[in-house]
Amino acid sequence: MKESNTLALALAVFAGLGLVAALLLAGLNALTEERITDERRDHALRAVSAMLPAGSYDNDLLDTEAPIEIRGLEEATTYTARLSGNATALVFDIVTANGYSGDIRLLVAVSAEGVVLGSRILEHRETPGLGDRIERDKSDWLAQFDGRSLGRPPAEEWAPDRRGGAFDTVTSATISSAAVVDAIKRVLLTFESRGDVLLRETQAK
Ligand SMILES: Cc1cc2nc3c(=O)[nH]c(=O)nc-3n(C[C@H](O)[C@H](O)[C@H](O)COP(=O)(O)O)c2cc1C
Repeated sequence: MKESNTLALALAVFAGLGLVAALLLAGLNALTEERITDERRDHALRAVSAMLPAGSYDNDLLDTEAPIEIRGLEEATTYTARLSGNATALVFDIVTANGYSGDIRLLVAVSAEGVVLGSRILEHRETPGLGDRIERDKSDWLAQFDGRSLGRPPAEEWAPDRRGGAFDTVTSATISSAAVVDAIKRVLLTFESRGDVLLRETQAK
């Protein structure tokens, strides 16, 4: 075989190997991403079932997934809890970009009457020992929103007390606190203006 042919063959083999490696990596990446999405979803669903009262819904929440726009939030998706076909609660899966270290993802469950049933922080990068105390496992700070609504306290008081509002502030973590209070307030404002439609829309599905 001529030297130039040998070189061409070697290059073709290398190119082929490179292509196979790239395809394998892409496949692996897709599988990993899928697994991460499934894990995030499972984690979220476990959190949801801990927030909603036992026996308050009998449907598959994932069937009701609906993305919505909420001003001031990065992402928002709703899930509707139903019992014998009647909507009992809306669960909002939301992301605020206002944390001390960026995005905070949380779940907020709101009853059909507009009352916060519960909330859970799903993902964040706040500082360990400071901002991470927004997590339910680290302190009971988040529990103060349970049972609250836009009237309790009035909308203008939905802020941490370090910023003149009605809610406790996580010590030395005013920014993290304010981000979470603001996000829950935006959910309640959305529920106030569009709750009827959201409950009805997902009910029809
Ligand atoms: C290393 C370091 C980490 C911090 N982490 C947070 C945090 O996770 N969340 C937060 O709200 N503030 C954090 N802060 C503090 C804020 O800079 C700010 O001082 C604090 O939120 C109090 O705000 P205030 O004085 O307006 O109440 C951190 C500060 C430092 C120096």
